Amino acid sequence: MTYPASKILLGVNVDHCATVRQARFREHAMDHGNEVEPDPVAFALLCEQAGADGITMHLREDRRHVQDSDIRRAHEQINTRLNFEMGCSDEIVALALELKPHSVCLVPESREEVTTEGGLDVVGQKARVADVVTAMTEAGIITSLFIDPDVAQIEAAAELQSPWIELHTGAYANAYYGDGRAAELQVLRDGAIQAHRLGLVVNAGHGINYLNIEEVITIPHLHELNIGHTIVSRALFVGIEQAVREMKAFLI
Ligand code: PXP
Repeated sequence: MTYPASKILLGVNVDHCATVRQARFREHAMDHGNEVEPDPVAFALLCEQAGADGITMHLREDRRHVQDSDIRRAHEQINTRLNFEMGCSDEIVALALELKPHSVCLVPESREEVTTEGGLDVVGQKARVADVVTAMTEAGIITSLFIDPDVAQIEAAAELQSPWIELHTGAYANAYYGDGRAAELQVLRDGAIQAHRLGLVVNAGHGINYLNIEEVITIPHLHELNIGHTIVSRALFVGIEQAVREMKAFLI
């Protein structure tokens, strides 16, 4: 089945710029996030100049890449929209409510993960997620729930009146070179249709790259894609502005 292409927004996740910084100057970066290279906020500003529609930063509990000062400076300096990706801990929720970014994306968090691996279990943690969605909504912040393309999780997100979801594309991206690719893509398409029918705004992210993007954009009802690793990787070869422009070209 083919779906008509439409303009999809690009959110650039700059976490891995901070990962590179932390690899060398961890101690200094903790206190002086803007004085050691590469600065993820300066990087985010270049992404915006190249056409990014929004910037995502994930402040993890263990502060392995983005630091508190990065989020604060990004909130002050970026000109598009800050999407604050976060777990549901009291500390991080309080920071989001203080900063009031344009949106928050709620993700699961466990210290062992190299990056976010599975979707948020909205079904299993309904009460806590409901509290956070309500608090964000009352503060005027859009909540997005990062969930697997699973019928029950999508229903739960709608039930909690989260305005947005972000469909986890990781299983599809991992299956890209294997037998499960078409099936995983179909699961995402079905999930997007279900979510749209329930009135949710549908974003997607994780593991999207310059190759699989051509199939990803065939998922219906997509509002925004959040893409990080492949853009930061490409930037090493062509510079961040060119890397963002190349990805944007797929979305026009
Ligand atoms: N969306 C969410 C919720 C994520 O956790 C991540 C990974 O940090 C991304 C999007 C971006 O994934 P990638 O870096 O693989 O493009």
